[in-house]
Amino acid sequence: MERIQKIIARSGLYSRRKAEELIKEGRIQVNGETVTELGTKASYDDIITIDGKQIFIRESIYLVMNKPRGVISSVSDDKGRKTVISILPQEYQNLGLYPVGRLDYDTKGVLLLTNDGDFMNEMVGPNSNIEKEYLVRLDGIITKNELRDMQAGVVIDGYKTRRCKTYFVSMDRKNKSCLVGIILKEGKNQQVKRMFDAVGYPVKRLTRIRFGEITTEGLPEGGVRLIKPHELKRLYVLNKSQN
Ligand code: URA
Repeated sequence: MERIQKIIARSGLYSRRKAEELIKEGRIQVNGETVTELGTKASYDDIITIDGKQIFIRESIYLVMNKPRGVISSVSDDKGRKTVISILPQEYQNLGLYPVGRLDYDTKGVLLLTNDGDFMNEMVGPNSNIEKEYLVRLDGIITKNELRDMQAGVVIDGYKTRRCKTYFVSMDRKNKSCLVGIILKEGKNQQVKRMFDAVGYPVKRLTRIRFGEITTEGLPEGGVRLIKPHELKRLYVLNKSQN
């Protein structure tokens, strides 16, 4: 027996939190009876409906993709561009997968995909706390002091970003650019680009090289692999513990 919100989250339709709201709103039925108590448990054999429509539990899938540039991080695109779902191998096409957060069209690197709404909310929701590491090619050569000062946070559109880590990798004097690293725990929309814009160094190229301990090691561009159970456990542990 599991709490109903957990079973609903496993359907991939809603996060556990959203499922709790649906329960409180009286929109969930178990074997035809409306449930409004958050602690209520059910089994995977019970018939659970949302507004009368039955949900089906499917196996939860967790993938890591080495996202290429020129691919949009959504399930579909009305402009007909390639999406991270459209480039998945056939075997993963119809499993209700979606990206865990977003990488911009022109950003490449580590992108997780799942059909587990609960996992998605844990990893990129408002309380997520997991490190995301980026390699950033900047227009201009940032000074080491400017880069260090960014660690205290940067104001973007009136919002001060959380503390972060930064490091210098290399400079290209001839092309007036440099390569730096930044490790963030939050994931506001276009955060890396906006942070470097705010300090006067526009981002020319961006690559996410790590999500928790997950990297693209061994994956060609556009390639995917299943995340192993022990890697998944580590993601949950890191999300709770990294400070
Ligand atoms: N920050 C950005 O600006 N873009 C991304 O794709 C990811 C993080």
